[in-house]
Amino acid sequence: MTENAVPKSHQVDNTTRLDRYPRLFRGVREHFLRSGTLTGLKLLSFGCSSGEEVETLNRFYFPEAQILGVDVNAGVLQQARTRCVDPDFTQFELFSEATMVQKGPFDAIFAMSVFCLWPQTQGVKNIAHLYAFEKFAQGMLLLHNAVKPGGLIVIFNANYRFADLPFAEEYSAIQIPNVNISFVEQFTPAGDAIGGVNPPECAFQKMTSDVSAACRPERSAGV
Ligand SMILES: C[S@@+](CC[C@H](N)C(=O)[O-])C[C@H]1O[C@@H](n2cnc3c(N)ncnc32)[C@H](O)[C@@H]1O
Repeated sequence: MTENAVPKSHQVDNTTRLDRYPRLFRGVREHFLRSGTLTGLKLLSFGCSSGEEVETLNRFYFPEAQILGVDVNAGVLQQARTRCVDPDFTQFELFSEATMVQKGPFDAIFAMSVFCLWPQTQGVKNIAHLYAFEKFAQGMLLLHNAVKPGGLIVIFNANYRFADLPFAEEYSAIQIPNVNISFVEQFTPAGDAIGGVNPPECAFQKMTSDVSAACRPERSAGV
């Protein structure tokens, strides 16, 4: 399939599998456990492919959360709907901006292996003509608008860095131990290869004044 085969598509490959990012999923679960409860959370698997990610989140990490999977590819969604997931807690929808607004806002959005063009960008010195930063930024803006204040955007295997987004300063990276290093190469907003190992940050919390005050370490007297 070519990049333009599905309108609005980022990654066109549909590879997925059950429990593909166990350390990350565990780290996000622990974050929510620390901050309160797992009950009633609303989660979005953006680019859910044939549904294994939704099944994973439902079965192993967030059995009491409402989980929506969206994808631009109607064929993989058909497969997703036949998966053995709990219909009281899971749902699949074809991606549209309206769906993101209607079904949100979300406590966490997982964008795993979606914001890239891989392996087409492997070893390429400049990817602006293949997958431009503006396309990444437009897609990420939808997620930014759909995540609750205090909620998380979890992004892994992306061609561009979250830190380069215009709204990145509204977020604070949360530390998740021992997350695997992404194999997808990263690029500057001009599309130039960065090279080297990508930063391990992949979960970003949307800060509001309330959230940042709650996260600020307490100062001891006299310091
Ligand atoms: C490699 S799969 C990733 C599946 C799963 N998230 C994982 O990591 O295992 C990428 C998926 O993203 C979907 N996708 C690409 N652009 C999208 C968009 N704009 N909105 C929703 N899904 C998209 C593709 O159709 C594909 O199924």
